[in-house]
Amino acid sequence: MREVRILTAGADSTDPLDVGGYLSMGGYGALRKALGMTPAEIIAEVKDAKLLGRGGAAYPAGSKWEQLLGISETPKHIVCNADEGEPGTFKDRFIMERNPFMLLEGMTIAGLVFGATEGHIYVRGEYRSVQRGLMRAMESARAANLLGPGILGSGFGYDIKLVSGAGAYVCGENSALLNSTQGLAGKPRIKPPHLAEVGLFGLPTLVNNVESFANVPPIVNMGGKAFLEVGHPESGGTKLICLSGHVARPGVYEVPLGSLTLRDAVFDPELGGGMAPGRGKLKFMHLGGQSGSIATAAQLDTVYSYADLRKARLSVGSGAVVVMDESVSMLDYLATVSRFFIRESCGKCTPCRLGNNAVLKILENLSDPGTARLRELRTLDELCRVMTMASFCGLGRAATVALASGWKAFPDEIERFATEDPPVRIEDLNIDWRPGGARF
Ligand SMILES: Cc1cc2nc3c(=O)[nH]c(=O)nc-3n(C[C@H](O)[C@H](O)[C@H](O)COP(=O)(O)O)c2cc1C
Ligand code: SF4
Repeated sequence: MREVRILTAGADSTDPLDVGGYLSMGGYGALRKALGMTPAEIIAEVKDAKLLGRGGAAYPAGSKWEQLLGISETPKHIVCNADEGEPGTFKDRFIMERNPFMLLEGMTIAGLVFGATEGHIYVRGEYRSVQRGLMRAMESARAANLLGPGILGSGFGYDIKLVSGAGAYVCGENSALLNSTQGLAGKPRIKPPHLAEVGLFGLPTLVNNVESFANVPPIVNMGGKAFLEVGHPESGGTKLICLSGHVARPGVYEVPLGSLTLRDAVFDPELGGGMAPGRGKLKFMHLGGQSGSIATAAQLDTVYSYADLRKARLSVGSGAVVVMDESVSMLDYLATVSRFFIRESCGKCTPCRLGNNAVLKILENLSDPGTARLRELRTLDELCRVMTMASFCGLGRAATVALASGWKAFPDEIERFATEDPPVRIEDLNIDWRPGGARF
């Protein structure tokens, strides 16, 4: 069996929005156990588990929790990032629709650790039916005394509110997400101060992804060390992979980190099942969403773990694996990625607002024989570096990751129409040489 079902256990239950089914499978056992533990003990388990944040940046969850615990100001807020705007990513939706109580239990344990009374789930605006389902699941948890005052007869009271996004990718960036939750424009904030210190409504705040929170009950149940055993020595547990594109069996698959290669993910009959009927050979995979890098067929034997992908200059990111066959032009694909970033740029900073437009213009020129010049390739290279270094938030910084890796992998496709720069002629400079004449 390729899949190991921890987060997706019980996903086939007849009514996943009723807490009864979850309780019958031992659900909320972790919360019962956590009620008898100290916050430091719970965090020690999360650290032992080596849980890396599943929202894309892979920040160690245990360290994030420890930093927040060290901040004395109260109350603290718990926020779940369920914006899931990354194209090719649909695993948080899977958890919220098919196993929502694991998320709610994880957020409740976080509330217990930080003495919070209120949590927020910020759900992508387009996920209307997911939002309705979550509301039903929360009602069911309240009715069973698993949310609200005096949870399970303890002195701990905690409830969760649902916040709807309005459909902007940048609102997945955690500071933009908090601004949007507060009713402000969904644009990123300057950091520091970090959100752990000055977060939602100016209070210390924990922001974690849906899949990260859902991992907390299994960690508390199994113990951090046993959880680590399931995955890779550097990052415990399973990962939900989202397979899409020209693959025979698109969908969400739960696999232990480090247990398979990219080839297994795409070609194993229990997972992707190979290329879709009528499709050609695999040309490339886009990993981790639009802000992730391009992996070629030559990298198919890379092990799917945070460490191994990093060594190959790739990344897990959100868990997206978009598979493309040889009929796809790399230039066209990269232009599509660039259009996405133009549409989603919030416009706050110049490198991202203008840079993405400049990138697309050059990519369009490069696909038109006779239009592109070699100097545009130099400008494109410079744009990649400037946008990565100077953009205000992760959206602009990652907007050219696909371009840089796709260009490196398929240079001939990107550069083939670029022609020699024309010689510079003095008359083209438009200089007025008369004394006192205006120049340029
Ligand atoms: C433009 C942008 C979009 C993002 N979108 C998401 C998202 O949809 N979901 C998510 O969990 N994290 C997203 N992130 C990452 C978050 O900012 C943050 O790192 C994450 O929610 C932290 O949770 P984790 O540590 O559990 O991964 C995004 C980041 C950027 C820069
Ligand atoms: S990089 Fe700048 S313009 Fe782009 S989304 Fe972030 S803040 Fe907005």
